[in-house]
Amino acid sequence: MFKDNVVIVTGASSGIGVQLAYQLADQGAWLALAARRLDRLEAVAEECRRRGAKAIAIQTDVTDEAQCKHLIERTRDAYGRIDTLLINAGHGKPQRFDAMHDLADLKAEIALNYLGAVQCVFYALPYLKQTRGRIVGVGSFGGLVGIPGTSGYNSSKHAMRGFLNTLRAELLGTGVTVTILFLGAIRTERLIEAMGNNVDKIPTMSPERCAQIVIDAAAKRKRQVVMTLPGKLLVWLYQFAPGLVDRQLARLPGRVYKE
Ligand SMILES: NC(=O)c1ccc[n+]([C@@H]2O[C@H](COP(=O)([O-])OP(=O)(O)OC[C@H]3O[C@@H](n4cnc5c(N)ncnc54)[C@H](OP(=O)(O)O)[C@@H]3O)[C@@H](O)[C@H]2O)c1
Repeated sequence: MFKDNVVIVTGASSGIGVQLAYQLADQGAWLALAARRLDRLEAVAEECRRRGAKAIAIQTDVTDEAQCKHLIERTRDAYGRIDTLLINAGHGKPQRFDAMHDLADLKAEIALNYLGAVQCVFYALPYLKQTRGRIVGVGSFGGLVGIPGTSGYNSSKHAMRGFLNTLRAELLGTGVTVTILFLGAIRTERLIEAMGNNVDKIPTMSPERCAQIVIDAAAKRKRQVVMTLPGKLLVWLYQFAPGLVDRQLARLPGRVYKE
């Protein structure tokens, strides 16, 4: 499906982004890989080329608008067009809102997970309209449900969802489609680092499987995917019995986050 498709993957230096890059490379995509750590990005790009794909590494901090513009223009210059923007760069630092000493972490989460996405879309959209391309956002259950202990991350993912849903409606008739994935816990190095031994107390999915689901949804131009049956149940219950879900989720931080 993605053979010769020009795909920008943000956050391609670790975790899910690496698996997205490898699986797209296996399909023969032309990849532009973005993140801040250039050495790691170069290694991922090298592996993608070894798998037969075209791949370039473009050092980008997506919180910096000028760097987002550079990412998009450098990709267009290298490949002549842009077919898919896969917004995957993201991060969250678990902490209760009433335990924050200041708002620096919350603002950083908004800058990365929400504005980082907006800035990449802003500069890519004119090119995506030319190719009737795809915008794919990697979201989280935290973009659908209020999960205690992650107010900055959750609000940034809610904002990203609102932005992409609005964009989808605005883009009707242009041929550009917008897909959002809502992920549960994915067993990346970062998750293990954040949760310590508690990671074994919750169901997790491998980054490989997660990347397969993202790529399949993108290929089919699906509107949205809530991953896993328990995830779908959680979202459904949140609509009809939100108080019950709140009480269950309220127990979560102490059980799953590293103190
Ligand atoms: N793992 C989970 O359980 C889980 C659950 C739900 C949703 N998600 C979402 O899945 C996506 C990938 O997460 P992951 O678990 O694979 O985490 P990860 O391993 O920490 O990867 C995050 C990626 O984002 C990049 N990144 C961070 N800050 C950036 C910045 N300012 N500019 C550009 N790139 C930046 C990182 O690269 P550099 O540090 O090199 O910049 C890295 O490549 C995120 O959007 C996350 O919110 C993950």
